[in-house]
Amino acid sequence: MLFYPKFVKVLTLNDAAPMIAIQEKSLALQVRPDFPILHQQIQDSPLVYLDSAATSQKPTQVLEALQAYYERDNANVHRGVHTLSGRATDAYEGARDKVAAFVNAASRQEIVYTRNASEGINLVAYSWGLNTLKAGDEIILTVMEHHSNLIPWQLVAQKTGAVLKFVELDENQAFDLEQYKTLVNDRTKLVSVVHVSNTLGCVNPVEEIIAIAHQYNAKVLIDACQSIPHMPIDVQAMDCDWLVASGHKMCAPTGIGFLYGKLDLMRDMPPFLGVVR
Ligand SMILES: Cc1ncc(COP(=O)(O)O)c(C=O)c1O
Repeated sequence: MLFYPKFVKVLTLNDAAPMIAIQEKSLALQVRPDFPILHQQIQDSPLVYLDSAATSQKPTQVLEALQAYYERDNANVHRGVHTLSGRATDAYEGARDKVAAFVNAASRQEIVYTRNASEGINLVAYSWGLNTLKAGDEIILTVMEHHSNLIPWQLVAQKTGAVLKFVELDENQAFDLEQYKTLVNDRTKLVSVVHVSNTLGCVNPVEEIIAIAHQYNAKVLIDACQSIPHMPIDVQAMDCDWLVASGHKMCAPTGIGFLYGKLDLMRDMPPFLGVVR
């Protein structure tokens, strides 16, 4: 997986204005040359891209790393004894170490590659959810969830008889912590919540949400799609049970994301797809 250091701010909505104003030595000015796609005019003006919450643009460093891989090292990962396969496997597993370090996972085995964040959530829903949840068990979501963190749980609830409950917004259009406290109880088996909302931009108090859920032995999944490109993520400090993120929102190519899960939990989860790498 290819990550680019902490400059993703250059492409966010809030930074677009300074980017146009081109402040001397601004972060935006420093990193703009790294993004070839921005070196074009649209309707006679320099392109300003404001949709990076949906997908980020890719810097030269990422594009070059991809090209170098396909020009020098491309081979089947974990499936060959020849030099190229060794290099490809080293690159693939080396990236797992980098992702584990990036989120401060306790073990590299806690990182599973997925095609995106949606697949990470589906993995937990189908592997853990279908095998664990029973009729009457409760899943707590919020009304601000992306469809990716709603539909898998609706499907699991249909199949198991589990009940979905939703945290509403408070007067500031943010996570209503007080209402959450009234929802969570001994029947709660899962809380699955977005860290930073893609629609509202609010930053949810995930540490507090997780601590409360754990008092009732409920598991917690954090959707970090919008937070991880912009803030440090420490899964051990957060104490989440699972966390998902997506490469394409943090300058990596489309088609790669990851699921973090606590090792004991992951060991007990049956395979979701019949291929293990
Ligand atoms: C908060 C949030 N969760 C999940 C997703 C889905 O991400 P992916 O495209 O990696 O499946 C998105 C994408 O917009 C998102 O913003």
